[in-house]
Amino acid sequence: MARKRVAVLISGRGSNMVALIEAAKDQSYPAEIALVLSNDPTAQGLSHARSAGIATAVVDHRTFGKDREAFERAMQAEIVARRIDIVCLAGFMRLLTPWFIAQWEGRLLNIHPALLPAFKGLDTHARALAAGAKQHGATVHFVVPEMDSGPIITQGAVAIAAGDTEQTLAARVLTVEHEIYPLALKLVAEDRVRIVDGICWIDGMAMPQGVPASSRS
Ligand code: GAR
Repeated sequence: MARKRVAVLISGRGSNMVALIEAAKDQSYPAEIALVLSNDPTAQGLSHARSAGIATAVVDHRTFGKDREAFERAMQAEIVARRIDIVCLAGFMRLLTPWFIAQWEGRLLNIHPALLPAFKGLDTHARALAAGAKQHGATVHFVVPEMDSGPIITQGAVAIAAGDTEQTLAARVLTVEHEIYPLALKLVAEDRVRIVDGICWIDGMAMPQGVPASSRS
């Protein structure tokens, strides 16, 4: 099967983008990173992508003022021009409109630094510590119009230690992010993920009792 062509959308550092690029260097990995797109021309990740020989594009949201859909249509043009199959948000810090999300239904992934549905939104590490959570982690999920709420593909957990600070916790969670994002993209690129009633089921893994056979596909 041909490798799926992936666009990675970033706004900053791009360490998750690097993890995806590294995974895709293996020719047996079912996806290749065909485009890195940023809304910020100064995003650090862009230079890494360029030095890895990956096509990059910048669509600066500030040039579109408040017109979010015009910004997204410009991104969509770049993505379509590269014949992209799957879009991965990796520290992409713009909220997307239902229009853009609909273009990529079932093919738009995001990584979030928390064990969803806990701690949607920003400042997840500080909030997990303040809440006295015993564990924390990261989630890769399909994007739906409601923020940080789509079907979950993979999660990775870390225990919160007594002396943890926001920085130490963030660093451990980031290590987990770099493991679960390539795994989630692999499953989606292999077309092994089915969504049944808002829950992801992975082909080749047993479904628990109670899932009606009629909803298995
Ligand atoms: C990552 O921790 C990612 O989970 C988070 O931004 C960071 C980006 O780091 N994403 C969000 O908070 C999205 N709501 P990176 O640029 O090094 O991949």
